[in-house]
Amino acid sequence: MQLDEILEGDCLEHLRNIPSESVDVTFADPPFNLGKKYNSYKDQRGLEAYLEWCHDWIRELVRVTKPTGSIFIHNIPKWLTYYATFLNQMADFKHWIAWDAMSTPLGKSLMPSHYGILYYAKSKPHNKFYELRYPHKRCRKCGYLHKDYGGKKAGLHPFGPLVSDVWTDLHRIKHNTRRDEHPCQLPIHLLERVILMSTDEGDVVLDPFSGTGTTAIAAKRLGRHYIGIELDPQYAQISRDKLIREDVDSQVNGVWVSQYLDNIVTLRDVDWKHLESCFHIPEIPEQIDFITIEFDKTCDCHPTRRKLVDDHQLSLFELGESS
Ligand SMILES: C[S@@+](CC[C@H](N)C(=O)[O-])C[C@H]1O[C@@H](n2cnc3c(N)ncnc32)[C@H](O)[C@@H]1O
Repeated sequence: MQLDEILEGDCLEHLRNIPSESVDVTFADPPFNLGKKYNSYKDQRGLEAYLEWCHDWIRELVRVTKPTGSIFIHNIPKWLTYYATFLNQMADFKHWIAWDAMSTPLGKSLMPSHYGILYYAKSKPHNKFYELRYPHKRCRKCGYLHKDYGGKKAGLHPFGPLVSDVWTDLHRIKHNTRRDEHPCQLPIHLLERVILMSTDEGDVVLDPFSGTGTTAIAAKRLGRHYIGIELDPQYAQISRDKLIREDVDSQVNGVWVSQYLDNIVTLRDVDWKHLESCFHIPEIPEQIDFITIEFDKTCDCHPTRRKLVDDHQLSLFELGESS
């Protein structure tokens, strides 16, 4: 099995060459059958044909996933309802993650405001999983926490709450100037969160619809192996060009974290004990309500790599803030 490669061609053909139970995590972001303009793929199949095709690659994803592994599939809710009926026969349901992403009103329906990520374990009793934390959400003007913890403020975690199945803090790449020549590139931090939650260093992450390589980049930054499969040669080449420039270095004080510029945006709960010393934390726990904990910029463990982040990912978070 070739690791750390972007394979060019049809995912079904490549998946057939991958041994059963050899991959730790599979993440799929397939075409949504909404007529998007891809270079090599016509995103407009009949309902039956689309679902039959999805069934085929979903079966392959489950086959190649290890008993300890997880399967993630990102799509609009309509298709996920079909996928869930296939997957319920082959794997164990864990979550429907709602990724908050505003869209435009369609008329005569509720405004679609989230994408879903189906999260299945190959086998729930053996599944590898890590609890995650993300930074507290605060009012941009006054700095106070958005959420009212009432009388429980003394028990606040200094960094932030546990990640739930509703993700509102990671934003889509909205500006064309910040994306590759691809119609639906995902933000790297979304994949970093998935990977931190479900894998260890050295594990293998497979993405059968790799696009311009978001999953592979996240895996590489976090010290995991990747296998990307992409039909379009140009998208595959963009991925390879980006991957050459990436380092295996998204670490602070010896632990893997998801970073943006000077901040950590996702960490594992079990790793907090190694990271705590890198922050200035108020001595009185209740003060977390109005004081943002600061990364110690003089600390040896302070991350420098995100300062060198390429233009495509810069301002990902500012863009979300302004929406
Ligand atoms: C929704 S996009 C994935 C975008 C990706 N997550 C990213 O962040 O760049 C779906 C991708 O699947 C590719 N694709 C379509 N059919 C395919 C197939 N049979 N095998 C492999 N890739 C395919 C398309 O070219 C497109 O790049």
